[in-house]
Amino acid sequence: MQPIITLEHLGKQYITKRQTITALDDVNMRFYPGELVSIVGPSGCGKSTIIRMIDDIIKPSSGTITVNGTVYDNQKPISRDMIRRLGFIFQIPNLYPWLTVRQNVTLPLEIMELNDSAHGEYADQLLNMIHLSDYANSYPREISGGMSQRIGVIRGMVHQPDILMMDEPFGALDDETREQLNLELLNIWRETGMTIIFITHNVEEAVLLSQRVYVMASHPGRVTADIKIEFDGPRTLDLINDPKFAAYCNQLETMIGKIELDQIV
Ligand SMILES: Nc1ncnc2c1ncn2[C@@H]1O[C@H](COP(=O)(O)OP(=O)(O)OP(=O)(O)O)[C@@H](O)[C@H]1O
Ligand SMILES: [Mg+2]
Repeated sequence: MQPIITLEHLGKQYITKRQTITALDDVNMRFYPGELVSIVGPSGCGKSTIIRMIDDIIKPSSGTITVNGTVYDNQKPISRDMIRRLGFIFQIPNLYPWLTVRQNVTLPLEIMELNDSAHGEYADQLLNMIHLSDYANSYPREISGGMSQRIGVIRGMVHQPDILMMDEPFGALDDETREQLNLELLNIWRETGMTIIFITHNVEEAVLLSQRVYVMASHPGRVTADIKIEFDGPRTLDLINDPKFAAYCNQLETMIGKIELDQIV
């Protein structure tokens, strides 16, 4: 199978008045269609930088990004067609307070000029899937933090992208809400067949959700491991009791801990 996203020899330097920061050095990654892959690693190792480059929010300093067979041009923005294939979910949902829940969800459709009835119906389906149909006409101030986070998730995928990038979307939530949203995300992933790149600091979350995990180190940001996560049964919260679950978490924690230790020494 061909990867849907290939990153080759990717480098990124941020040039500020005081210094040049090598955020990424020779990063190579592949994502296959329909995979859910997490990226973990210490703060500042360049996780957000990677998905911002795939989403064309910023351009790489070197290397190539290929999505669906198209190589990104480092001088030009990606095409409208490509933009519609990509979805991006931020850590903080930033809902517009003057719009209702449904209007917040359908805003990307307006921006991308996809405001037909089929997309509108999909927005309603998504609201239903996250159990918030009854709140469609409420305003953000009238809903909880967990609900806002759910809205942020479906807003990032209302235009039916092939690829969804999630930058620590559940980082600010309590454990129980996070687990609930992890299960909802697994449902969404199964039903849509999207390729998902999921950034997290939480190793348990990465093991529960992912088929593969990239581990990164910083200074400069680089990939140190590519770990396959395999379980026999379905991905449910029961997995937490599977000895393999703890073994994967330990393996990842040891790797990240070692990276952090190396950076201190
Ligand atoms: N706009 C910018 N200007 C200058 N430096 C930046 C900029 N954005 C990121 N950096 C630097 O690039 C490096 C990678 O940042 P990035 O945000 O990608 O890391 P991260 O792995 O997502 O970290 P975190 O886990 O804290 O979110 C860091 O050293 C950061 O300080
Ligand atoms: Mg980040």
